[in-house]
This record gives sequence, structure tokens and C-alpha cells, in this order.
Amino acid sequence: MIRLQTASAAAFLEKDALAALRPRIVAAHRTLLEKRGAGSEFLGWRDLLLQPNDALLEDIATKADEIRRKADVLVTIGIGGSYLGSMATIQALTPYFNARPAMASTTGGALADDREESPELLFAGHHMSGAYIRQLLAHLEGKSVYLNVISKSGTTLEPALAFRFLRAWMEERYTDVNERIIVTTDPDSGVLNQLQKERGYKKYVIPPDVGGRFSVLTPVGLLPIAVAGVDIRSLFYGAVSACKTYSEATEDNIALQYAGYRYLLAQRGYATEVLATFEPRLSGIGGWWQQLFGESEGKEHKGLFPVSLQYSTDLHSVGQYVQEGQRKLIETFLMAEDDEGDVVVPALEGNLDKLNYLAGKTYSEINRKAYEGTAKAHTDGGVPNMTLWLKDISPNTIGAAYYFFEHAVAVSGYLLGVNPFDQPGVEAYKKEMFSLLGKP
Ligand code: PA5
Repeated sequence: MIRLQTASAAAFLEKDALAALRPRIVAAHRTLLEKRGAGSEFLGWRDLLLQPNDALLEDIATKADEIRRKADVLVTIGIGGSYLGSMATIQALTPYFNARPAMASTTGGALADDREESPELLFAGHHMSGAYIRQLLAHLEGKSVYLNVISKSGTTLEPALAFRFLRAWMEERYTDVNERIIVTTDPDSGVLNQLQKERGYKKYVIPPDVGGRFSVLTPVGLLPIAVAGVDIRSLFYGAVSACKTYSEATEDNIALQYAGYRYLLAQRGYATEVLATFEPRLSGIGGWWQQLFGESEGKEHKGLFPVSLQYSTDLHSVGQYVQEGQRKLIETFLMAEDDEGDVVVPALEGNLDKLNYLAGKTYSEINRKAYEGTAKAHTDGGVPNMTLWLKDISPNTIGAAYYFFEHAVAVSGYLLGVNPFDQPGVEAYKKEMFSLLGKP
């Protein structure tokens, strides 16, 4: 389902570098599997794949069907791990152009039932732009709105603030407001639980042993993804099958190879990893990956700085830097073997735009040559690179990709000697900000 090409990374290392590191890679892998490492109380993201909860998947799918029938818009409130996975998955697995006209009553009256298109999926609480909130509320006017507020702690400022505004807006407009709000949070603690109990909102639980950036396959990601019309069972079971595959400590385990090459290159002074996609639908996965690797590895002054780029778009902006800037970059291309780009370039009589040399070729073929040319130019320019090939852009393969990266980052953290499951540094800015805001 996924394969990894590593020759252009190996070329920058001594011949047997990966083999020499292998005992340490296997030891890090075993530490993860045997729950012996730092942060091992946060391995619920593996456990939930080892023992799938089909009843929960069913419950989420049923709730999502109801929302799909009744809502024009689902607003998902959350930040960091509470929204990046759902946003990435929805971007990857739903059509580029998917808007449908608003049809429902705003007063909680009769709603159109048998709609095939998805509601509009919008996000809030992932920054603190007042202009965004004002324009969002104006955009929602006259529509049937459902809300999924996602926060494990319930105290994160960005989502908490957005929830206050959206809740008030909804309370003024709907008689059935409490049925339109779904809370996804910690089983017991946090202010969201208090509100949820008081108002009787539907609640989904974020397992306490799953950190935000590892939570895409919990209700955090699954509810919004299901509302978008994605087959969450297939997504989830793609990860289940990857979990089996990458739990084997074989030499062809590509999650271990990926972790190994990144570590070896970081040890040789490389400081930044670019994850580059050539298919825009995959760029959200780059955003999710950026958080996963940045928060898991970037501590104790260690780790590669993760940067997500979308090619060929960004070849026309930061491509210059990648080719000729400081030689501290490594690059991982995220590609799909089948990217559905089978649009054939027509021949043009007179060839006025001088593009007839492309006639008969598909967009996919042209994009593939752009990738091959880029990989070669960057290798020649001193950028070690790997390519991760997804079989296709389907729920099953995307689920597998999530597990691939999660396993790799856990092993990578243990190789570096850090706890891959905490994020102490995130608190520093909050402390300063809350002090400036006079938080009691
Ligand atoms: O990975 C993490 O733990 C963070 O990105 C959190 O998901 C993010 O800060 C949001 O936290 P919360 O869900 O508690 O609002």
C-alpha cells in the first residue's frame, strides 16, 4: 500500500550506515512495542488499532449521517491535534469543489432529509482572528448549522473563545440548539464536561492515553471526517493493517527505514526536513505531519525542523532556497501512484501556445516528470531525499499513511533520546500570553 524509495538519501551516507544503526533502530522499536519508553502512558493510539471498537465507529457513522441530513454547515472547533488530522483527511478525500446550496430552515423547523452532497465543513478556534469570527457568523446566517467542539483540556484559549461566540450565536437562533452541538473531550475533566452535562450535548470521548497529534483516528478526527462523507471504517482499518505491518521488526519495515535515515542525516548536521507533495489534496497531510514531527521531536535542542511544501506551486517560491540555500535540508516527497490526474492534453492546430510537445500526455504524467526532475535537481544540488509512494489517495491508504508516520516518529523520538509524546515547550508562550491578558 505504501513504499519508500531511499536511494537518494543513502547516497549522502556511508555505505552501511543504516545497517550499522539497525540494532539501535530495532531497540527503539521494541521500546515502543513493549511500552518501556518515556511517555509510554500515551500509547493509546496503538492500542485502539490493536483492539478496534467497531461499535464506536458505527455510532460515529450514524451521528454523521444525521448531521449530513440535517446540516448545511458543520463547524469544527479545535486547534493543533484537535483539528489538523480531520482537516487533512477531508482535504485529501473529498472533491476539490464540493459546495452545495443551503437548503434547511434556521429555526429548527422541517429540514430536507435525503441529500447526497456533504454539508459545508468549516473550521474555527484554530487562531484568534476576530475578522474571521465576524465573517464566519455572517456566512452562517440563514443556514442550518451544527457544531463539533473538540478540546481535550477544554481550556485552550482559541477553541474556548470561538465556542463562546458560536454557542451564543446558535442559542439565539435555534430552538433545538442542544442537539446541534457535539462535544469531543476528556472523559471527566475540563470545563467542556461541565457545560456538556448541563446542556445535555452529545459527547464523544478523547481517550486520556492519546495525545492530540495522535488523535486523528479517535472521535476527534472521525466525526468531522464521517460528516464529510468519507468511509471512516476503511480509513481506520487501513491504519489497523499498517499497525500490523510496521510492528514487525523486519529489514524491509519502511517506517523503521524512514526513522533511521532521518536520524542518520540529522546526526550529520542536516537541520530541516521538507515534506513535499505534488498533489495539492495531500498538502493538509503535510500540515498534520508538521505538527506530529515538530511536537514529538523538537525538544532538548534536538530534531529536524519540519516544513510542509506543495510542489510544483512552491518550486516557484522557495524552490530557489531548496536548490541553492544553506545545505542543511533533507526532503521527503509524498506521492500517489494513482492521483486521478488522467486528463489528456489535446493537440492544438497551429500550436500557437507551443504546447503540442505535450499532446497525448496526461496531467499525471507531466506532474510525475516534474517530480522526477525535481528529485534529480535537488539530489544534484545537495539535498538528500526520499520518496514515500502511496498506492492511491483512498481512505484505506491514508489511514495506513497516518500509522506509518506515527510509528516512525515514535521510533525516531526514542532514537533521539527524547519523549516523543509530550510537548512541554508549548506552554511557554501560553504562560506569557495569559500573564499579559491578566488571567486569574
Ligand atoms: O498535540 C497536542 O496535544 C496539541 O496540539 C493539542 O491537540 C492542542 O493544543 C489542543 O489542545 P486541546 O485539545 O486540549 O484544546
